[in-house]
Amino acid sequence: MSNTCLLPVVIGGVLLLSAGECSSQLAAGDRDTLVAIRKGWGNPRRLASWDPDSASDHCSWDGVMCSDGGGGGRVVTELSLSDMKLTWTLPAAMCDFVNLTRLDLSNTGLPGTFPGATLYRCSQLRFLDLANNTLHGALPRDIGNLSPLRGEMSEDFGNLRNLTLLSLYMNNLTGTIPASIGLLPKLSTIWLDNNNLFGELPPELGKHSPLSSIGISNNNLSGPLPETLCANGELYGIYASNNNFSRNLPANLGDCVLLQELVLDNNRFSGDFPEKIWLLPELEIVMIPNNNFTGVLPAVLSSNIQHIEMGNNMFSGSIPRTAISLRGFWAENNQLDGELPADMSKLANLTDLSMPDNHITGPIPASIKLLLNLNSLNLSGNQLTGPIP
Ligand SMILES: *[C@@H]1O[C@H](CO)[C@@H](O)[C@H](O)[C@H]1NC(C)=O
Ligand SMILES: *[C@@H]1O[C@H](CO)[C@@H](O)[C@H](O)[C@H]1NC(C)=O
Ligand SMILES: *[C@@H]1O[C@H](CO)[C@@H](O)[C@H](O)[C@H]1NC(C)=O
Ligand SMILES: *[C@@H]1O[C@H](CO)[C@@H](O)[C@H](O)[C@H]1NC(C)=O
Ligand SMILES: *[C@@H]1O[C@H](CO)[C@@H](O)[C@H](O)[C@H]1NC(C)=O
Ligand SMILES: *[C@@H]1O[C@H](CO)[C@@H](O)[C@H](O)[C@H]1NC(C)=O
Ligand SMILES: *[C@@H]1O[C@H](CO)[C@@H](O)[C@H](O)[C@H]1NC(C)=O
Ligand SMILES: *[C@@H]1O[C@H](CO)[C@@H](O)[C@H](O)[C@H]1NC(C)=O
Ligand SMILES: *[C@@H]1O[C@H](CO)[C@@H](O)[C@H](O)[C@H]1NC(C)=O
Repeated sequence: MSNTCLLPVVIGGVLLLSAGECSSQLAAGDRDTLVAIRKGWGNPRRLASWDPDSASDHCSWDGVMCSDGGGGGRVVTELSLSDMKLTWTLPAAMCDFVNLTRLDLSNTGLPGTFPGATLYRCSQLRFLDLANNTLHGALPRDIGNLSPLRGEMSEDFGNLRNLTLLSLYMNNLTGTIPASIGLLPKLSTIWLDNNNLFGELPPELGKHSPLSSIGISNNNLSGPLPETLCANGELYGIYASNNNFSRNLPANLGDCVLLQELVLDNNRFSGDFPEKIWLLPELEIVMIPNNNFTGVLPAVLSSNIQHIEMGNNMFSGSIPRTAISLRGFWAENNQLDGELPADMSKLANLTDLSMPDNHITGPIPASIKLLLNLNSLNLSGNQLTGPIP
Protein backbone atom coordinates (compact mmCIF):
# COMPACT_ATOMS: atom_id res chain seq x y z
CA MET A 1 0.00 0.00 0.00
CA SER A 2 1.51 3.31 -0.93
CA ASN A 3 0.71 6.71 0.38
CA THR A 4 1.57 9.35 -2.14
CA CYS A 5 1.21 13.04 -1.62
CA LEU A 6 1.13 15.99 -3.91
CA LEU A 7 4.55 15.84 -5.41
CA PRO A 8 6.15 18.56 -7.42
CA VAL A 9 7.84 16.93 -10.38
CA VAL A 10 9.92 18.90 -12.78
CA ILE A 11 10.05 17.41 -16.26
CA GLY A 12 11.65 19.42 -19.02
CA GLY A 13 11.50 22.56 -16.93
CA VAL A 14 7.74 22.30 -16.45
CA LEU A 15 6.41 21.93 -12.94
CA LEU A 16 3.79 19.21 -12.74
CA LEU A 17 1.81 18.22 -9.71
CA SER A 18 1.07 14.53 -9.41
CA ALA A 19 -1.92 14.11 -7.14
CA GLY A 20 -2.55 11.22 -4.80
CA GLU A 21 -4.16 10.44 -1.51
CA CYS A 22 -2.66 12.67 1.05
CA SER A 23 -3.01 13.68 4.66
CA SER A 24 -1.33 17.02 4.27
CA GLN A 25 -0.03 19.32 1.64
CA LEU A 26 3.56 20.03 0.82
CA ALA A 27 2.89 23.73 0.97
CA ALA A 28 2.17 23.49 4.70
CA GLY A 29 4.92 24.63 7.04
CA ASP A 30 6.69 22.34 9.49
CA ARG A 31 4.32 23.36 12.30
CA ASP A 32 1.32 22.26 10.27
CA THR A 33 3.11 19.05 9.32
CA LEU A 34 3.68 18.22 13.00
CA VAL A 35 0.02 18.81 13.69
CA ALA A 36 -0.96 16.64 10.73
CA ILE A 37 1.29 13.83 11.98
CA ARG A 38 -0.15 14.09 15.48
CA LYS A 39 -3.60 13.86 13.99
CA GLY A 40 -2.52 10.94 11.78
CA TRP A 41 -1.51 9.18 14.97
CA GLY A 42 -4.86 9.87 16.61
CA ASN A 43 -3.67 12.80 18.77
CA PRO A 44 -1.91 10.56 21.32
CA ARG A 45 -1.51 11.88 24.83
CA ARG A 46 2.28 11.55 24.54
CA LEU A 47 2.23 14.25 21.87
CA ALA A 48 0.13 16.67 23.91
CA SER A 49 2.86 19.28 23.58
CA TRP A 50 2.28 19.35 19.82
CA ASP A 51 -0.61 21.71 20.32
CA PRO A 52 -1.43 23.98 17.38
CA ASP A 53 -3.26 26.38 19.69
CA SER A 54 -0.34 26.88 22.03
CA ALA A 55 1.88 29.87 21.65
CA SER A 56 5.01 27.75 21.99
CA ASP A 57 7.53 27.43 19.18
CA HIS A 58 7.03 24.02 17.54
CA CYS A 59 10.79 23.50 17.69
CA SER A 60 10.38 23.11 21.47
CA TRP A 61 7.72 20.40 21.22
CA ASP A 62 8.59 16.95 22.61
CA GLY A 63 10.93 15.00 20.36
CA VAL A 64 11.29 17.77 17.80
CA MET A 65 14.70 19.19 16.87
CA CYS A 66 15.22 22.10 14.52
CA SER A 67 18.16 23.71 12.79
CA ASP A 68 18.56 27.07 11.18
CA GLY A 69 17.15 26.77 7.71
CA GLY A 70 18.65 28.23 4.57
CA GLY A 71 16.22 31.10 4.38
CA GLY A 72 16.53 32.45 7.94
CA GLY A 73 13.75 30.39 9.60
CA ARG A 74 14.05 27.23 11.65
CA VAL A 75 13.35 23.86 10.02
CA VAL A 76 12.59 20.48 11.58
CA THR A 77 15.61 18.20 11.12
CA GLU A 78 15.07 15.50 13.75
CA LEU A 79 12.18 13.60 15.28
CA SER A 80 13.10 11.43 18.25
CA LEU A 81 9.97 9.73 19.49
CA SER A 82 11.53 6.57 20.92
CA ASP A 83 9.53 4.87 23.71
CA MET A 84 6.36 6.83 22.99
CA LYS A 85 3.41 4.55 22.62
CA LEU A 86 2.12 5.45 19.16
CA THR A 87 1.12 2.10 17.62
CA TRP A 88 -0.20 3.68 14.42
CA THR A 89 1.34 3.39 11.00
CA LEU A 90 3.59 6.12 9.69
CA PRO A 91 1.55 9.13 8.55
CA ALA A 92 2.20 10.03 4.93
CA ALA A 93 2.99 13.58 6.01
CA MET A 94 6.24 12.41 7.67
CA CYS A 95 8.37 13.37 4.71
CA ASP A 96 6.75 16.74 4.24
CA PHE A 97 9.63 17.94 6.40
CA VAL A 98 12.02 18.61 3.56
CA ASN A 99 14.99 18.77 5.93
CA LEU A 100 14.37 15.66 8.04
CA THR A 101 17.69 13.89 8.59
CA ARG A 102 16.95 11.80 11.66
CA LEU A 103 13.87 9.75 12.45
CA ASP A 104 13.78 7.62 15.59
CA LEU A 105 10.58 5.67 16.12
CA SER A 106 12.13 2.78 18.05
CA ASN A 107 10.11 1.13 20.83
CA THR A 108 6.88 2.80 19.77
CA GLY A 109 4.82 -0.18 18.66
CA LEU A 110 4.87 0.94 15.03
CA PRO A 111 2.90 -1.72 13.14
CA GLY A 112 2.53 -2.77 9.53
CA THR A 113 5.03 -3.45 6.80
CA PHE A 114 8.20 -1.43 6.18
CA PRO A 115 6.83 2.01 5.25
CA GLY A 116 8.91 2.33 2.12
CA ALA A 117 6.62 4.39 -0.06
CA THR A 118 6.36 7.01 2.66
CA LEU A 119 10.02 7.04 3.62
CA TYR A 120 11.52 7.19 0.15
CA ARG A 121 10.35 10.80 0.02
CA CYS A 122 12.57 11.72 2.98
CA SER A 123 15.49 12.40 0.70
CA GLN A 124 17.67 13.96 3.40
CA LEU A 125 17.26 11.05 5.82
CA ARG A 126 20.52 9.84 7.34
CA PHE A 127 19.40 7.98 10.43
CA LEU A 128 16.37 5.71 10.46
CA ASP A 129 15.64 3.79 13.65
CA LEU A 130 12.51 1.65 13.65
CA ALA A 131 13.87 -1.01 16.01
CA ASN A 132 11.74 -2.98 18.45
CA ASN A 133 8.37 -2.46 16.81
CA THR A 134 5.95 -4.90 15.24
CA LEU A 135 6.89 -4.40 11.62
CA HIS A 136 6.30 -7.55 9.63
CA GLY A 137 6.52 -8.76 6.06
CA ALA A 138 9.44 -8.55 3.67
CA LEU A 139 11.87 -5.70 3.31
CA PRO A 140 11.00 -4.08 0.00
CA ARG A 141 13.24 -5.03 -2.93
CA ASP A 142 13.62 -1.36 -3.76
CA ILE A 143 14.74 -0.27 -0.29
CA GLY A 144 17.97 1.03 -1.75
CA ASN A 145 16.24 2.22 -4.84
CA LEU A 146 17.52 4.87 -7.10
CA SER A 147 21.15 4.52 -6.27
CA PRO A 148 23.29 6.02 -8.99
CA LEU A 149 24.84 2.61 -9.48
CA ARG A 150 21.59 1.43 -10.89
CA GLY A 151 21.21 4.19 -13.38
CA GLU A 152 18.94 7.11 -13.47
CA MET A 153 17.13 8.68 -10.59
CA SER A 154 13.41 8.44 -10.68
CA GLU A 155 11.66 11.73 -10.32
CA ASP A 156 8.52 10.84 -8.45
CA PHE A 157 9.96 9.44 -5.25
CA GLY A 158 12.80 10.85 -3.31
CA ASN A 159 15.24 8.27 -2.10
CA LEU A 160 17.39 7.19 0.79
CA ARG A 161 20.75 7.87 -0.79
CA ASN A 162 21.98 9.73 2.27
CA LEU A 163 21.03 7.03 4.75
CA THR A 164 23.88 6.09 7.09
CA LEU A 165 22.00 4.08 9.72
CA LEU A 166 19.21 1.57 9.15
CA SER A 167 18.00 0.05 12.39
CA LEU A 168 15.18 -2.48 12.20
CA TYR A 169 16.19 -4.95 14.88
CA MET A 170 13.52 -6.65 17.00
CA ASN A 171 10.69 -6.63 14.51
CA ASN A 172 9.08 -9.52 12.71
CA LEU A 173 10.46 -8.93 9.25
CA THR A 174 10.77 -11.91 6.98
CA GLY A 175 12.08 -12.72 3.50
CA THR A 176 15.62 -12.15 2.32
CA ILE A 177 17.81 -9.05 2.68
CA PRO A 178 17.40 -7.11 -0.57
CA ALA A 179 20.54 -6.64 -2.62
CA SER A 180 19.63 -3.00 -3.03
CA ILE A 181 20.53 -2.34 0.64
CA GLY A 182 24.10 -2.81 -0.48
CA LEU A 183 23.70 0.00 -2.99
CA LEU A 184 22.87 2.74 -0.50
CA PRO A 185 26.14 4.64 -0.95
CA LYS A 186 26.50 6.04 2.59
CA LEU A 187 25.05 3.24 4.64
CA SER A 188 27.46 2.39 7.43
CA THR A 189 25.28 0.77 10.08
CA ILE A 190 22.80 -2.03 9.43
CA TRP A 191 20.99 -3.53 12.40
CA LEU A 192 18.54 -6.26 11.47
CA ASP A 193 18.95 -8.58 14.47
CA ASN A 194 16.02 -10.55 15.86
CA ASN A 195 13.76 -10.85 12.85
CA ASN A 196 12.79 -13.81 10.68
CA LEU A 197 15.07 -13.08 7.74
CA PHE A 198 16.40 -16.00 5.73
CA GLY A 199 18.51 -16.69 2.65
CA GLU A 200 22.00 -15.44 1.86
CA LEU A 201 23.44 -11.99 2.42
CA PRO A 202 23.60 -9.88 -0.74
CA PRO A 203 26.84 -10.86 -2.49
CA GLU A 204 28.32 -7.36 -2.76
CA LEU A 205 27.30 -6.10 0.68
CA GLY A 206 29.96 -3.65 1.86
CA LYS A 207 31.39 -3.01 -1.58
CA HIS A 208 29.51 0.18 -2.36
CA SER A 209 29.23 1.76 1.07
CA PRO A 210 31.47 2.41 4.08
CA LEU A 211 30.01 -0.43 6.14
CA SER A 212 31.12 -0.17 9.76
CA SER A 213 28.70 -2.30 11.75
CA ILE A 214 26.37 -5.08 10.72
CA GLY A 215 23.99 -6.77 13.17
CA ILE A 216 22.06 -9.75 11.84
CA SER A 217 21.94 -12.09 14.84
CA ASN A 218 18.96 -14.28 15.57
CA ASN A 219 17.61 -14.76 12.09
CA ASN A 220 17.79 -17.76 9.79
CA LEU A 221 20.39 -16.48 7.36
CA SER A 222 22.55 -18.97 5.50
CA GLY A 223 25.42 -19.26 3.03
CA PRO A 224 28.76 -17.49 3.42
CA LEU A 225 29.64 -14.02 4.61
CA PRO A 226 30.32 -11.91 1.49
CA GLU A 227 33.95 -11.29 0.53
CA THR A 228 33.14 -7.59 0.26
CA LEU A 229 31.97 -6.94 3.85
CA CYS A 230 35.15 -5.06 4.70
CA ALA A 231 35.92 -3.84 1.18
CA ASN A 232 36.12 -0.24 2.35
CA GLY A 233 38.14 -1.02 5.46
CA GLU A 234 35.68 0.64 7.84
CA LEU A 235 34.17 -2.44 9.42
CA TYR A 236 34.46 -2.67 13.20
CA GLY A 237 31.64 -5.00 14.18
CA ILE A 238 30.03 -8.14 12.79
CA TYR A 239 27.24 -9.60 14.90
CA ALA A 240 25.82 -12.71 13.24
CA SER A 241 25.07 -15.17 16.09
CA ASN A 242 22.39 -17.80 15.87
CA ASN A 243 21.90 -18.16 12.16
CA ASN A 244 22.63 -20.91 9.69
CA PHE A 245 25.72 -19.40 8.03
CA SER A 246 28.22 -21.87 6.61
CA ARG A 247 31.43 -22.20 4.65
CA ASN A 248 34.76 -20.44 5.19
CA LEU A 249 35.13 -16.93 6.50
CA PRO A 250 36.47 -14.63 3.78
CA ALA A 251 40.27 -14.66 4.17
CA ASN A 252 40.35 -10.90 3.65
CA LEU A 253 38.72 -10.35 7.06
CA GLY A 254 42.31 -10.77 8.21
CA ASP A 255 43.05 -7.41 6.58
CA CYS A 256 40.08 -5.65 8.15
CA VAL A 257 42.22 -3.33 10.26
CA LEU A 258 39.49 -1.65 12.29
CA LEU A 259 37.71 -4.85 13.30
CA GLN A 260 36.91 -4.82 17.01
CA GLU A 261 34.12 -7.29 17.55
CA LEU A 262 33.53 -10.52 15.67
CA VAL A 263 30.49 -12.40 16.96
CA LEU A 264 29.60 -15.51 14.97
CA ASP A 265 28.56 -18.11 17.54
CA ASN A 266 26.07 -20.86 16.75
CA ASN A 267 26.36 -21.15 13.01
CA ARG A 268 27.83 -23.78 10.73
CA PHE A 269 30.99 -22.00 9.61
CA SER A 270 33.85 -24.30 8.71
CA GLY A 271 37.33 -24.20 7.25
CA ASP A 272 40.38 -22.38 8.56
CA PHE A 273 39.67 -19.29 10.64
CA PRO A 274 41.94 -16.65 9.03
CA GLU A 275 44.92 -16.53 11.37
CA LYS A 276 45.62 -12.86 10.69
CA ILE A 277 42.36 -11.91 12.41
CA TRP A 278 43.92 -12.73 15.78
CA LEU A 279 46.53 -10.04 15.24
CA LEU A 280 44.27 -7.19 14.15
CA PRO A 281 45.32 -4.21 16.24
CA GLU A 282 41.85 -3.11 17.37
CA LEU A 283 40.42 -6.56 18.00
CA GLU A 284 38.69 -6.85 21.40
CA ILE A 285 36.03 -9.53 21.21
CA VAL A 286 35.94 -12.82 19.32
CA MET A 287 32.90 -15.00 19.95
CA ILE A 288 32.81 -17.97 17.61
CA PRO A 289 31.75 -21.05 19.62
CA ASN A 290 29.64 -23.79 18.14
CA ASN A 291 30.89 -23.76 14.58
CA ASN A 292 33.23 -26.08 12.76
CA PHE A 293 36.26 -23.84 12.45
CA THR A 294 39.71 -25.31 11.99
CA GLY A 295 42.98 -23.42 12.07
CA VAL A 296 45.67 -22.44 14.51
CA LEU A 297 45.32 -20.17 17.51
CA PRO A 298 48.62 -18.26 17.51
CA ALA A 299 50.71 -17.98 20.67
CA VAL A 300 50.73 -14.19 20.47
CA LEU A 301 47.44 -12.34 20.07
CA SER A 302 46.44 -8.77 19.46
CA SER A 303 47.31 -6.79 22.57
CA ASN A 304 43.77 -5.36 22.80
CA ILE A 305 41.94 -8.64 22.86
CA GLN A 306 39.76 -9.00 25.95
CA HIS A 307 37.29 -11.76 25.33
CA ILE A 308 37.61 -15.00 23.39
CA GLU A 309 34.92 -17.65 23.19
CA MET A 310 35.81 -20.39 20.75
CA GLY A 311 34.44 -23.60 22.28
CA ASN A 312 33.21 -26.53 20.24
CA ASN A 313 35.32 -26.03 17.16
CA MET A 314 38.38 -27.85 15.89
CA PHE A 315 41.12 -25.30 16.53
CA SER A 316 44.67 -26.44 17.04
CA GLY A 317 47.55 -24.44 18.45
CA SER A 318 48.37 -23.68 22.04
CA ILE A 319 47.29 -21.41 24.84
CA PRO A 320 48.31 -17.82 24.07
CA ARG A 321 51.58 -16.81 25.76
CA THR A 322 50.92 -13.09 25.60
CA ALA A 323 47.56 -11.38 25.66
CA ILE A 324 47.84 -8.63 28.22
CA SER A 325 44.25 -7.42 27.97
CA LEU A 326 42.67 -10.85 27.95
CA ARG A 327 40.01 -11.31 30.62
CA GLY A 328 37.99 -14.29 29.48
CA PHE A 329 39.17 -17.27 27.47
CA TRP A 330 36.73 -20.10 26.77
CA ALA A 331 37.93 -22.79 24.39
CA GLU A 332 36.30 -26.02 25.50
CA ASN A 333 36.32 -28.99 23.20
CA ASN A 334 38.96 -28.07 20.64
CA GLN A 335 42.34 -29.59 19.82
CA LEU A 336 44.63 -27.14 21.54
CA ASP A 337 47.82 -28.74 22.75
CA GLY A 338 51.16 -27.88 24.32
CA GLU A 339 51.72 -26.80 27.88
CA LEU A 340 50.41 -23.88 29.87
CA PRO A 341 52.85 -20.97 29.52
CA ALA A 342 55.52 -21.08 32.21
CA ASP A 343 55.15 -17.34 32.78
CA MET A 344 51.46 -16.68 33.15
CA SER A 345 52.03 -13.10 34.27
CA LYS A 346 51.61 -12.01 30.65
CA LEU A 347 47.97 -12.97 31.04
CA ALA A 348 47.64 -10.99 34.26
CA ASN A 349 44.10 -9.73 33.65
CA LEU A 350 42.53 -13.15 33.16
CA THR A 351 39.34 -13.68 35.14
CA ASP A 352 38.12 -16.84 33.41
CA LEU A 353 40.20 -19.58 31.86
CA SER A 354 38.17 -22.47 30.60
CA MET A 355 39.58 -24.99 28.20
CA PRO A 356 38.34 -28.44 29.15
CA ASP A 357 38.52 -31.24 26.63
CA ASN A 358 41.63 -30.25 24.73
CA HIS A 359 45.06 -31.87 24.58
CA ILE A 360 46.97 -29.71 27.06
CA THR A 361 49.90 -31.49 28.63
CA GLY A 362 52.50 -30.83 31.30
CA PRO A 363 52.27 -29.21 34.73
CA ILE A 364 50.19 -26.33 35.99
CA PRO A 365 52.87 -23.65 36.40
CA ALA A 366 53.38 -22.03 39.78
CA SER A 367 53.02 -18.65 38.08
CA ILE A 368 49.28 -19.27 37.84
CA LYS A 369 49.20 -17.76 41.33
CA LEU A 370 50.09 -14.44 39.72
CA LEU A 371 46.62 -14.35 38.14
CA LEU A 372 45.09 -12.39 41.00
CA ASN A 373 41.79 -11.78 39.22
CA LEU A 374 41.15 -15.37 38.27
CA ASN A 375 37.58 -16.37 39.16
CA SER A 376 37.19 -19.61 37.31
CA LEU A 377 39.56 -22.21 35.95
CA ASN A 378 38.52 -25.34 34.10
CA LEU A 379 41.21 -27.58 32.68
CA SER A 380 39.40 -30.89 32.98
CA GLY A 381 39.64 -33.42 30.20
CA ASN A 382 43.27 -32.64 29.35
CA GLN A 383 46.50 -34.55 30.02
CA LEU A 384 47.94 -32.40 32.77
CA THR A 385 50.50 -33.84 35.17
CA GLY A 386 51.85 -32.92 38.55
CA PRO A 387 50.40 -31.18 41.59
CA ILE A 388 48.09 -28.18 41.74
CA PRO A 389 50.28 -25.25 42.87
C1 LIG B 1 16.42 22.68 4.08
O1 LIG B 1 16.08 22.32 2.74
C2 LIG B 1 16.15 23.39 1.83
C3 LIG B 1 15.64 22.88 0.50
O2 LIG B 1 16.27 21.69 0.15
C4 LIG B 1 17.58 23.89 1.75
O3 LIG B 1 17.65 25.01 0.88
C5 LIG B 1 18.06 24.30 3.14
O4 LIG B 1 19.43 24.63 3.10
C6 LIG B 1 17.85 23.15 4.13
N1 LIG B 1 18.20 23.59 5.47
C7 LIG B 1 18.84 22.81 6.33
C8 LIG B 1 19.10 23.39 7.68
O5 LIG B 1 19.21 21.70 6.05
C1 LIG C 1 10.87 -2.61 23.29
O1 LIG C 1 9.80 -1.70 23.36
C2 LIG C 1 8.99 -1.84 24.52
C3 LIG C 1 7.89 -0.83 24.43
O2 LIG C 1 7.17 -1.01 23.24
C4 LIG C 1 9.81 -1.62 25.77
O3 LIG C 1 9.02 -1.85 26.91
C5 LIG C 1 10.99 -2.56 25.76
O4 LIG C 1 11.82 -2.27 26.87
C6 LIG C 1 11.79 -2.40 24.48
N1 LIG C 1 12.86 -3.39 24.45
C7 LIG C 1 14.10 -3.04 24.17
C8 LIG C 1 15.10 -4.15 24.19
O5 LIG C 1 14.43 -1.89 23.91
C1 LIG D 1 21.98 14.16 0.38
O1 LIG D 1 22.78 15.09 1.08
C2 LIG D 1 23.30 16.12 0.28
C3 LIG D 1 24.21 16.96 1.13
O2 LIG D 1 23.59 17.28 2.33
C4 LIG D 1 22.15 16.93 -0.35
O3 LIG D 1 22.66 17.89 -1.20
C5 LIG D 1 21.22 15.99 -1.12
O4 LIG D 1 20.11 16.69 -1.57
C6 LIG D 1 20.76 14.86 -0.20
N1 LIG D 1 19.83 13.95 -0.84
C7 LIG D 1 20.08 13.12 -1.85
C8 LIG D 1 18.96 12.29 -2.33
O5 LIG D 1 21.17 13.03 -2.35
C1 LIG E 1 5.95 -13.11 13.60
O1 LIG E 1 5.67 -13.78 12.38
C2 LIG E 1 5.35 -15.15 12.55
C3 LIG E 1 5.13 -15.77 11.18
O2 LIG E 1 5.75 -15.07 10.17
C4 LIG E 1 4.09 -15.28 13.40
O3 LIG E 1 3.84 -16.64 13.62
C5 LIG E 1 4.33 -14.58 14.73
O4 LIG E 1 3.15 -14.59 15.49
C6 LIG E 1 4.74 -13.15 14.53
N1 LIG E 1 5.09 -12.58 15.82
C7 LIG E 1 4.70 -11.37 16.19
C8 LIG E 1 5.17 -10.92 17.54
O5 LIG E 1 4.01 -10.66 15.49
C1 LIG F 1 15.39 -21.40 7.54
O1 LIG F 1 15.36 -21.08 6.17
C2 LIG F 1 15.37 -22.21 5.32
C3 LIG F 1 15.41 -21.69 3.90
O2 LIG F 1 16.61 -20.98 3.70
C4 LIG F 1 14.12 -23.03 5.58
O3 LIG F 1 14.16 -24.18 4.77
C5 LIG F 1 14.08 -23.42 7.03
O4 LIG F 1 12.87 -24.08 7.32
C6 LIG F 1 14.17 -22.20 7.93
N1 LIG F 1 14.29 -22.61 9.31
C7 LIG F 1 13.63 -21.99 10.30
C8 LIG F 1 13.89 -22.53 11.66
O5 LIG F 1 12.87 -21.08 10.10
C1 LIG G 1 20.31 -24.76 7.66
O1 LIG G 1 20.50 -24.92 6.26
C2 LIG G 1 20.40 -26.25 5.82
C3 LIG G 1 20.65 -26.29 4.34
O2 LIG G 1 21.75 -25.51 4.00
C4 LIG G 1 19.02 -26.80 6.12
O3 LIG G 1 18.97 -28.15 5.76
C5 LIG G 1 18.74 -26.66 7.60
O4 LIG G 1 17.40 -27.02 7.85
C6 LIG G 1 18.93 -25.23 8.05
N1 LIG G 1 18.79 -25.18 9.50
C7 LIG G 1 17.85 -24.42 10.07
C8 LIG G 1 17.85 -24.43 11.56
O5 LIG G 1 17.06 -23.76 9.44
C1 LIG H 1 30.50 -29.98 12.17
O1 LIG H 1 30.85 -30.98 11.22
C2 LIG H 1 30.37 -32.28 11.57
C3 LIG H 1 30.93 -33.29 10.59
O2 LIG H 1 31.17 -32.71 9.34
C4 LIG H 1 28.85 -32.24 11.56
O3 LIG H 1 28.34 -33.49 11.92
C5 LIG H 1 28.37 -31.19 12.55
O4 LIG H 1 26.97 -31.08 12.48
C6 LIG H 1 29.00 -29.84 12.25
N1 LIG H 1 28.65 -28.93 13.32
C7 LIG H 1 28.25 -27.68 13.09
C8 LIG H 1 27.94 -26.85 14.29
O5 LIG H 1 28.13 -27.24 11.96
C1 LIG I 1 44.01 -4.87 33.37
O1 LIG I 1 42.89 -4.57 34.20
C2 LIG I 1 42.99 -3.33 34.87
C3 LIG I 1 41.84 -3.23 35.85
O2 LIG I 1 40.61 -3.45 35.22
C4 LIG I 1 43.00 -2.24 33.84
O3 LIG I 1 43.11 -0.97 34.46
C5 LIG I 1 44.17 -2.44 32.89
O4 LIG I 1 44.12 -1.48 31.86
C6 LIG I 1 44.14 -3.82 32.31
N1 LIG I 1 45.33 -4.05 31.54
C7 LIG I 1 45.32 -4.25 30.25
C8 LIG I 1 46.63 -4.41 29.58
O5 LIG I 1 44.26 -4.31 29.61
C1 LIG J 1 34.56 -28.14 33.40
O1 LIG J 1 34.22 -28.49 32.07
C2 LIG J 1 33.64 -29.78 31.95
C3 LIG J 1 33.49 -30.10 30.48
O2 LIG J 1 32.79 -29.07 29.81
C4 LIG J 1 32.30 -29.75 32.67
O3 LIG J 1 31.69 -31.02 32.57
C5 LIG J 1 32.54 -29.40 34.11
O4 LIG J 1 31.28 -29.27 34.77
C6 LIG J 1 33.30 -28.12 34.25
N1 LIG J 1 33.67 -27.92 35.63
C7 LIG J 1 33.32 -26.83 36.31
C8 LIG J 1 33.77 -26.76 37.71
O5 LIG J 1 32.69 -25.91 35.79
